[in-house]
Amino acid sequence: MKEHEKYIQALIRLHLGLERQGPGDTNYSNYILSLIKDLPKNPRIADIGCGAGAGTLLLADKFKTKIRAVDFSREFLNELINRAKQRGLDHLVEAIECDMGRLGWQPETIDLLWSEGAAYNLTFEGALKAWRPLMAANGMAVISEMNYFTNAVPESVRVYWQKAYPAIGTESENSNHANLSGFEVLGIHRLPAKAWWDNYYGPLTKNMSSFKNSEDKIMQSVIKETEEEMKFFKEHGEHYGYSFYIMKAV
Ligand SMILES: C[S@@+](CC[C@H](N)C(=O)[O-])C[C@H]1O[C@@H](n2cnc3c(N)ncnc32)[C@H](O)[C@@H]1O
Repeated sequence: MKEHEKYIQALIRLHLGLERQGPGDTNYSNYILSLIKDLPKNPRIADIGCGAGAGTLLLADKFKTKIRAVDFSREFLNELINRAKQRGLDHLVEAIECDMGRLGWQPETIDLLWSEGAAYNLTFEGALKAWRPLMAANGMAVISEMNYFTNAVPESVRVYWQKAYPAIGTESENSNHANLSGFEVLGIHRLPAKAWWDNYYGPLTKNMSSFKNSEDKIMQSVIKETEEEMKFFKEHGEHYGYSFYIMKAV
């Protein structure tokens, strides 16, 4: 296995058993969903980069319709399937092991595209371009994206993100990408920092402590980087974070 693959495997192991693999919040997602109008009856829905399915299960429960749930991690999809069974929602979940950049679906077959904390893997612009053809006429997309909250980004924050995610943009730059990719932005909503700590970093810290004595060097470096990421967010989190983009295919 190549170093990069070993790194991804360690990252996946560190996130197993967690409700979420990235920052998010069920109440906040419900709020976002409450803002979405004009969906057809029995909407065709996809959750892309679903992880262990926090979003998928919410969508399945709310809409009572089948959700196409995509992730390239078999481990996360297995967790999703088990959780769906526990909640009696498994008949509403189609778990699809696939690269989110190569979905190969029929064009214009999605009425609601949901993607939390995952689009950055293609870059926001790349995700919009890859997914726009899948959108049905007037379909809705909700994508949460890591972005700057300000145009006046402090130098230390810019340097950090240039290394971690060079394609990071401001909300207005991302809106521009959306407009140029065939979407109208209906709203941008910032995930509160509390959701990071309560629902992601908190549970992740517990998982990290269970690997503290691991002799796996790659796991140790993943843990060190995650600790640094948390420290940086604690110190500078007012300048960046996830924003939910509510968009309509136009
Ligand atoms: C930060 S996690 C978010 C997971 C979930 N949406 C949530 O909010 O808990 C990003 C997810 O994207 C998946 N992922 C990363 N690159 C991918 C790709 N190229 N194709 C499919 N899934 C990918 C990861 O396995 C992971 O589950």
